Parts: sequence; C-alpha cells; structure tokens
Amino acid sequence: MASPVDGSPTQNPLTVLTLAELRQRTSVKWRMHPPDVLPLWVAEMDVPLAPVVADALRRAVDLGDTGYPHGTAYAEALGEFAAERWGWHDFRVERTAVVPDVMMGIVEVLRLVTDPGDAVVVCSPVYPPFYAFVGHADRRVIEAPLGPDLRIDLAALDEAFRRAREYGRRPAFLLCNPHNPTGVVHRRDELEAVADLADRHGVRVVSDEIHAPLVLSGARFTPYLTVAGAENAFALTSASKAWNLAGLKAALAVAGPRAAADLDRMPEEVSHGPSHLGILAHTAAFRAGGRWLDLLLDGLDANRTLLETLLAKHLPSVGYRRPEGTYLAWLDCTGLGIDTERPAGGEPGVASDLAGPAQMFLDRARVALSSGHVFGTGGTGFVRLNLATSPAVLTEAVTRMGHAVGAQQASPRTGADDEIHHHSP
Ligand SMILES: Cc1ncc(COP(=O)(O)O)c(C=O)c1O
Repeated sequence: MASPVDGSPTQNPLTVLTLAELRQRTSVKWRMHPPDVLPLWVAEMDVPLAPVVADALRRAVDLGDTGYPHGTAYAEALGEFAAERWGWHDFRVERTAVVPDVMMGIVEVLRLVTDPGDAVVVCSPVYPPFYAFVGHADRRVIEAPLGPDLRIDLAALDEAFRRAREYGRRPAFLLCNPHNPTGVVHRRDELEAVADLADRHGVRVVSDEIHAPLVLSGARFTPYLTVAGAENAFALTSASKAWNLAGLKAALAVAGPRAAADLDRMPEEVSHGPSHLGILAHTAAFRAGGRWLDLLLDGLDANRTLLETLLAKHLPSVGYRRPEGTYLAWLDCTGLGIDTERPAGGEPGVASDLAGPAQMFLDRARVALSSGHVFGTGGTGFVRLNLATSPAVLTEAVTRMGHAVGAQQASPRTGADDEIHHHSP
C-alpha cells in the first residue's frame, strides 16, 4: 500500500489488490467457487492487511514470539477505541474476557445466562450462524422478524419475549448490533426500548458488535452496554470484520456491571482458545488502525453509492436500501420472478446453501452471493452482496447480474432449475 514516510496509509484499501493477487488467497471466499466466479458472498474483504497489523505480526514472527498470551492489552486497546469513537467512557477492562472468536464467545455467554432448552430470540433475517450455533448449544431459537423498514419491530420482539418465557426460566435475546444482513445501525432510542422490554420480560441481552467499527457516514454506533437499562447485558466484539482478521482468532466478551458475576463463571479453558498472534493483531488494529479504517470506510461509502447507481442501471427491479453500517448490501430480488423454492432440507443457518436468486446469479452470472433463505424468516427471495471489494469488481459483478436477469427474462424456462450447473469444488 502506498504510504508516506511516516508509514501511515493514504490509499483506499479496497483498490490496492488486483483480482489476480486475490485469487492466490486460499481462504473460503476464494476457494469455494471456480476462478471464473466473482465471490461477493462470505464476509471477508478484498483488502491487504493494515500496515500496523502486518507490522505487529511480522515483529512477533521475527522474534519467535509465538507462545501463550498474557495481559489485558487487547481489552485496553478496545477500551481506548470505544472511548474515542463511540464515547464509551465507563468501559472496564476488569469486566472483559478474551474468547476465541465472536461466535464461540456468544455460545459461552449463552451458556452462562441460559440453560439447555431455553429460548434465544433473534431478529430475522439475521446472520445464519445465530441459528446453527444456538441450536448446537441445545437452546431453541425464536424469531422476532424485523419490520418492513428492516428495523427492529418492538411489537414482534415483545411477543417473542413472551413466548420465550414459556420455554424456560432463563431466555436471552441475541442482538446483532449493527445488523447483518441489512446493514441497519440501531439507534439509541431503539436500543433503550429493547432494554426496557428485556427488563420487563426477564430476558438477558447478548449483543454481537463485531461490525461496530464499520458504521458509515450518516449513522452513529451505540454500544448496547451504554444504553440505560442494559447493565446486566453482554457484548461480544473483535477487530475481525473491520480489519479482516477472521483467520487470526481472538475476540472479547464484555459484561455490563450487573453481569460481571456471570462473566466470572466463564470456564477458564475458554481463554485457551484465542491465539497470541490473534490477540497481537486485534490489539494493533484497535490501538493504531484508525487511519486505515477511515480510508476503508470512505471506500465502502463510495461503494454503497456506486451499487445504487449500478442497480438503477442494470437491475432496476431489485430493491436496495443503502446500508448504514457493515459492508453488506441486502438486495430484494422478489421482483425478479425467480422460483424461490428451497432446496430439500434447506434450513436457516447453513451459510453456503443456495436457492432462488443466488443460485441463478451463480449459474448464469458467475457471481457468488449469499442466499437470503439461510438468514431465516424474511430472507427468501433476497441475496446478500459483499461490498468490500474494488469498484471495478463491483461494477463487473452487477453488470453480469443484469445481463443474467435480462437473459433469464428473455427465456424464462432457464433459471435456477435448468441444466446449466457449475458445481463448486
Ligand atoms: C454478525 C456476525 N457475528 C459474528 C461473525 C463471525 O465472527 P467470528 O469469526 O469472530 O466468530 C460474523 C461474521 O461475518 C458476523 O457477521
């Protein structure tokens, strides 16, 4: 990446790497599909590492500093970042625990505040592993579908909390803040209403804040633990989404003041999961990756506008609401008239499952998107597109998608069900 002499980055990280360079990657985004497919599905970004993160890792490798982690530097770095960016001043390092990653952290926190068989409420459509991980932990998912404006529907949440209480003594609400896949950034007043409902129903809130640094201009992130009434809640976060560190496992669980005793019950072995190198990388990102993040956010902001222009030109019947945060675009393809029948056994939760529009776009446009049906109720007929790529790749992908729809509408028999199937390895 181009850097001035002081080493701080100056270039939009989304325009640094070529497709040829990206295709050398061995992560799932680049290896799930054949090389003619543009992968805009799983939440990995087409960026190089932030120089401060690469330097921290390089230094550790040079020193052979690859032993066990020690200390609270990661939580301190998050605390400084949270104070500066979000005005979260009563963040307490003592009320944090290092966990292997956000999803494992969520499961461990759910084990602390719920019992097997208890209900966990989610606002659908939502990140598919919310279903799979909760189910595998022997808890039962209850959906409170988002409203037509894709924001939390408080009446639906009230009803879901009431039902959740019928299943067991200790229900929880797994909040996605900001929300994946819609890119909605919940407002403080919405979160206060959530806290009020949770309190009235005796529901513990666990807030997944992995996308928090990725809030774009025009919106403001509210840490759930800063909301009045959220004192007994938990938040889980890491630098994984904002700095593209999913391969460097290390996340943080943060307890509100009235959840500290619960956090103390977290089994010691959970802290053995995150790696020292992961902790070093996430710490460097929060501590010194702000400049790089700002350049990324500018690039994502430009991409969400570019996507609007491209859709108007190539796919005018696809519905698009600009995301307020995340690098995800939730596209309403119900107007395309594509059969959205689920594949046999298609349940929410299997992130790579394809159906309807996503299958058609893979088959006929060679663009891989996430299929809406895996995000639960409200997802069928939608696709999720990952904007964290170069404007050139985004333009090529949407142009191809437009041509595929044009061809499909010219010969409607061909579509998701026809004989043109390119099987993934
Ligand atoms: C809302 C949300 N939570 C959790 C994760 C996964 O985080 P981790 O890899 O730390 O488990 C993702 C990844 O995209 C996500 O979007």
